[in-house]
Amino acid sequence: MPYYHQLGKVPRKRHIAFRDGDGRLLPEELIGNHGFTGPASLVYHLHEPTKVKSVRRLRCLEWKAEPERLPKHRHFRSLQLAPGPSLVFDRLPVLFNRDVALAVAAPRQNDEVFYRNAQGDEIVFVTEGGGVLESPFGDLPFRQGDYVVVPRGILHRYRFDPQSARCLVIESTGAVRTPKRYRNEFGQLLEQSPYSERDIRRPEWAEPRDERGDFPVVIKKDNKFVEMVLAYQPFDVVGRAGYYYPWAFSIHDFEPRVGRVHLPPPVHQTFEGDHFVVCSFCPRPYDFHPEAVPAPYNHSNVMSDEVLYYASSEFMSRKGIEYGSMTLHPDGLPHGPHPGRTAASIGQPGTDELAVMVDTFRPLHVSAEALAAEDTDYYRSWLEE
Ligand SMILES: [Fe+2]
Repeated sequence: MPYYHQLGKVPRKRHIAFRDGDGRLLPEELIGNHGFTGPASLVYHLHEPTKVKSVRRLRCLEWKAEPERLPKHRHFRSLQLAPGPSLVFDRLPVLFNRDVALAVAAPRQNDEVFYRNAQGDEIVFVTEGGGVLESPFGDLPFRQGDYVVVPRGILHRYRFDPQSARCLVIESTGAVRTPKRYRNEFGQLLEQSPYSERDIRRPEWAEPRDERGDFPVVIKKDNKFVEMVLAYQPFDVVGRAGYYYPWAFSIHDFEPRVGRVHLPPPVHQTFEGDHFVVCSFCPRPYDFHPEAVPAPYNHSNVMSDEVLYYASSEFMSRKGIEYGSMTLHPDGLPHGPHPGRTAASIGQPGTDELAVMVDTFRPLHVSAEALAAEDTDYYRSWLEE
């Protein structure tokens, strides 16, 4: 997806006979989005990837929205939620619509099964912990601050380090990509982009696994988990080439933009999806006009729901939030700095805030589970004189 990459052994041309040292033909597979026209990679297996032994439905995913949605500012303390041990199976939805879902996870186990999300791309933002993402494309190490992007359909498995981990999981119906305005007509990230290809980390070489047996893959499709048992370990890849693979980008590699006066949130944009954007608010010096007001001005984002996930307890314009807080400022409701924050920001040298913003262009539902962690008075928190 971000750019062409080749790893391992591949034939000199695509679709020609490719054999191992014993003269055995190695199966070729195209893994790509939008059939044969989207970003794709060709991978070369030790065994045919088509050997399915059984298929069964595991369970439906029933994400329930709150019964009534009132237009007001919301605040959820996500650390008060208690997702189960698996990142993949126990992520807890907080906000969602048909384009994007935001869930929290606190992984405490490494699943043995493989996972394929066949209904969306995933961005896993790691706020605590680290580990390795395994896939047919190799091993992708990740750590605190990483956005791990797994395009839809790519088989994978997380291996978390033993220490505690927390993640914000963003599931996207459309492809997650770098913002178009950051790319030139050839797809290269422009000089004015706040990050470059060198900041994007790709999977590293991993030896192909040559194992026969029962290898369960859990597929997420139509809001159901389905188990498919394969006859060979699916990470049996000797080489691959193309644009389609998981990748990681650290929020700490995002180069924040600063102006003489306040710059609006789109300068912090990091990714785009269909009908939503992701922005990164990173530590940075404040604006440098002698009379600049660094705190944002009040704003009413019509036809946009604005979510902030606070990856630290600092945020220049907010009071009463904590690490793990998620705020939702829905469609068209004015919001801005909390009382006193505008004046306090003037003359300050900078901010240490770290937050991820997701702006959606269709309304979000609040999940029924998230209500247990809601700060229900948040919408009144601007009242104080
Ligand atoms: Fe806002």
